[in-house]
Amino acid sequence: MLLIETVRALEAWKREAGRKGRSLGFVPTMGALHEGHLSLIRRAKEENDLVVASVFVNPTQFGPGEDFERYPRSLERDCDLASGAGADVVFHPDAREIYGEGHSTIVRVEGELAGVLCGKARPGHFQGVTTVVNILFNIVGPDRAYFGQKDAQQSLVVQKMVRDLKIPVEVRVCPILREEDGLAMSSRNAYLQQEERRQAVRLHKGLEKAGEAFGAGERNPERLLELAKEEIRKAPLGELEYLELLDGRDLRPVERAAAGDLMAVAVRFGKTRLIDNILLEGE
Ligand code: PAJ
Repeated sequence: MLLIETVRALEAWKREAGRKGRSLGFVPTMGALHEGHLSLIRRAKEENDLVVASVFVNPTQFGPGEDFERYPRSLERDCDLASGAGADVVFHPDAREIYGEGHSTIVRVEGELAGVLCGKARPGHFQGVTTVVNILFNIVGPDRAYFGQKDAQQSLVVQKMVRDLKIPVEVRVCPILREEDGLAMSSRNAYLQQEERRQAVRLHKGLEKAGEAFGAGERNPERLLELAKEEIRKAPLGELEYLELLDGRDLRPVERAAAGDLMAVAVRFGKTRLIDNILLEGE
């Protein structure tokens, strides 16, 4: 496995790896890798000849007062893990490598899709994501790129960008990996104090309750949200930022719940912000 830190070196690798007829999978990350990330790398390796994983804590997707500075960084460990999961290259650029001097171009998906949920709670976040993902796609030039359902809205926003800008890459969205008790794996879980960690499982429990009720025939969005909320309230250290049920394809409001709808939640434990979601299944 190669660690590559410059665009020039990545281009040289691509020439050398002789892309002739060899497919390339790409997994963008911000590092502090866990099994969730590794599942994307493994999937990419199953479906492509070569795999590049990027590790770049992208400054432009963090708002003022968010955790950019303290975001966990563990490059050596990340390289070992990425290599074990099948990555051929870890691309770890410097911020100047990505945003050259005087960089002044942003890529933004307009409208509801990027404006609700995390888009509302974190202004500017998704334009930071779409800008960096676009730049990374241009540098890496993958056939397929892998994103997690954990960040459901991010996956939808990236897919919209790819469609609108006709970027020649196939986006694959992969299932959420969870800890044994159901907590969605996240680099940010490491911030949680012991009692916060114990209570954090309620996010998943709440979503699960709503999912079960939907499976049993409940179609009233308010009722489903209330069921989830009952559980989430059992985490008194958590402050609910949003809990919503939206159309899973375009994030528009729904009047009656249907299979494929997305129930998404964000909760703050102190300064730590956790998100989770489920897609309603059945019918
Ligand atoms: P990061 O939070 O490091 O996540 C990288 C990828 O891993 C994302 O596609 C995310 O959805 C996926 N992922 C995270 N936790 C997961 C889990 N528990 N199960 C499955 N997949 C999971 O998302 C970002 O970085 C950045 O916004 C990025 C796209 C790299 C742009 O900077």
